[in-house]
Amino acid sequence: MNCLSPSILAADFSRLGEQVARIDEAGAQYVHIDVMDGMFVPSISFGMPLIRSIRPCTERIFDVHLMIEEPSRYIKEFVDCGADIITVHAESCTHLDRTIEEIRGLGVLASVALNPATDLGVLEYVLPKLDMVLIMTVNPGFGGQKFIPYSLDKIRALRRMIEKRGLKTDIEVDGGITLSNVREILDAGANVIVSGSAVFRGDIGQNVRDFLQIMK
Ligand code: DX5
Ligand code: ZN
Repeated sequence: MNCLSPSILAADFSRLGEQVARIDEAGAQYVHIDVMDGMFVPSISFGMPLIRSIRPCTERIFDVHLMIEEPSRYIKEFVDCGADIITVHAESCTHLDRTIEEIRGLGVLASVALNPATDLGVLEYVLPKLDMVLIMTVNPGFGGQKFIPYSLDKIRALRRMIEKRGLKTDIEVDGGITLSNVREILDAGANVIVSGSAVFRGDIGQNVRDFLQIMK
């Protein structure tokens, strides 16, 4: 199934609860929550208190993308504040297998993100343990960047790898996704679409409906 996961990084934080309710009403299945620590990525976004405060605004799935060094230090806290899916970066985990096991052990869905330059090979042994893989289609750290074109080949290669092994892993894509390129990204094999600026700029409800129309 195709799902839309609007990234609240692009929302107006002074009206965050209201904007989360708006993407929910328009039918977005997930809420994408970008946590940045100023170490793994150059910018700092927000953390647990914000996630906890928007948890009552929607029953949609909280898709938490941790762009932080050694996320294993905080997995339990993110589950406690309402995460349903936790994505950690392969590049930020010294013991990736252990961190994946920890996420699964806490009863939430486990996902691994790869930066644009990271080879799919890091997934070789852990893929069967994952509910989702996140292919970064920009270098993480900021919203509003341009989609990196070679990502399409990477998505296709990952879809082949998943199918060859008879798995059902979701492929999420994140960065520079708009109404104009989402179709070819889905055709390449992605099925969970993150979008920040293209959802929160302008009429939020209409943008969500436009994405969902293309994603049907
Ligand atoms: C990038 C973040 C993305 C980003 C997407 O570091 O992980 O989720 O906010 O934003 P857009 O859609 O504006 O590229
Ligand atoms: Zn993200």
